[in-house]
Amino acid sequence: MSDLKAKIEETAGHFPSRRSAIMPALFLAQEQYGSITNDAMEEVADILGVPKVWIFEIANFYTMYNKEPVGKFHIQVCTNLSCMLREADGIVARLEEQIGVKTGETTADGMFTLSAVECLGSCGTAPMMQVNKTYYEDLTVEGIDEILKELREKAGNGGERRRHDANGGDRD
Ligand code: FES
Repeated sequence: MSDLKAKIEETAGHFPSRRSAIMPALFLAQEQYGSITNDAMEEVADILGVPKVWIFEIANFYTMYNKEPVGKFHIQVCTNLSCMLREADGIVARLEEQIGVKTGETTADGMFTLSAVECLGSCGTAPMMQVNKTYYEDLTVEGIDEILKELREKAGNGGERRRHDANGGDRD
């Protein structure tokens, strides 16, 4: 049994039906392959024993499943209403300026991918963005440079200031 299959089978065991395990199974495939390709979708469908169309629908609907490989840090800026009212467009512009790519692109060194996404459920701390699994909240345009500096340092030495985890807890 492949490593991915073993992980998906273990996860599926916690759900009442195989269909309910599609989203976590896709996350496991994304962890394994870096993105969700058609081959990955087919593999997940085969492992779960569900119609491929169920997998394709979910993988293509949600922005958290990357159809293309992303950089070491995937920066996803919420540009939905609450964040836009609190200067999300300025945050995006500053990020584009500082990392040197447009939204939807990856830097040549593979360090950053910049995406604009829909509401990430943290409207009360708008504007916000998610970098990999970590939420950065109450952002300011001026504070973006410091965050990028931290990320570059993290890439170099593994250190990171404590932030709010996208799954609800604090993390290092
Ligand atoms: S609108 Fe940005 S987190 Fe909800």
